Amino acid sequence: MKVTIVGAGAVGASCAEYIAIKNFASEVVLVDIKEDYAEGKAMDLMQTASLLGFDTKITGATNDYSKTAGSDIAVITSGIPRKPGMTREELIGINADIVKSVASSLIEQSPDVTIIVVSNPMDTMTYLVHKTTNLPKNRIIGMGGALDSARFKYRISEALDCPASDVEGMVIGGHSDTGMVPLTRLATRNSVPVSAFLSEERINQISEDTKVGGATLTKMLGTSAWYAPGAAVSSLVQAIANDQKKMFPCSALLEGEYGLNDLCIGVPVILGKNGIEEIVELELDEAEKAKLKESSEGVSKTNGLLDLKK
Ligand code: LAC
Repeated sequence: MKVTIVGAGAVGASCAEYIAIKNFASEVVLVDIKEDYAEGKAMDLMQTASLLGFDTKITGATNDYSKTAGSDIAVITSGIPRKPGMTREELIGINADIVKSVASSLIEQSPDVTIIVVSNPMDTMTYLVHKTTNLPKNRIIGMGGALDSARFKYRISEALDCPASDVEGMVIGGHSDTGMVPLTRLATRNSVPVSAFLSEERINQISEDTKVGGATLTKMLGTSAWYAPGAAVSSLVQAIANDQKKMFPCSALLEGEYGLNDLCIGVPVILGKNGIEEIVELELDEAEKAKLKESSEGVSKTNGLLDLKK
């Protein structure tokens, strides 16, 4: 199993690190445009192998996609991250050109690759890859919901003063401060709805804190977060690599599901060796449906800023 990660910044390197620690891939190639940067990160990570006990071979390449040939899975993290006060949508101009060219270089070397898009604004960048490449739709996946759900579970575990492993919960919708739809009605602690333990007010607060999870960290760190994004991507990569048929909310191209069309947005999907093997259609209540609809309008508006004729 060969995995390429484009962008050896904090998110890309964390993702490589978690993939290596989980020890399921034979090879991880890190690619970056900065001379020697990916090679340096790869060498540093490889020097942890004997300490952490993994066998995954990590290599680096400066913008040389021939090194990525034959990749099964590729992760695109390239582009500029947001700075404090910026929305993910504000990154569209620069990142669209980068993501489009990276996707085409990857596919040239690995025609059967499955691409996971992380660059922001993520739902729109995922849509761009659908629109500008010939990869089948199941092989293009946007990473947002897995991260947002992990942040949601963190906030619930904080409120309940319990380990996050006791908590189940999912965030659907767009990966943006206003677009996320934390499914509080379905969130549980060991199968018991969280509403049995927490007031409506507290649950609403958890929901609001989840939606600005990325922005909160960007403000604290001066740039966007990397540990949870890297871990979330590594979980998606592992689900595909090991054909786990695991369910994650991911940004998927919708063609009628949830009453939505011609956009990528976070919905639960089953991930296995073929990428997105199924889109799971949940029975949402009226309020959740309205929130998802509103979120989809925001994503479509951002998609409208793309110049697809270029
Ligand atoms: C975040 C970035 C990865 O939410 O979108 O931290």
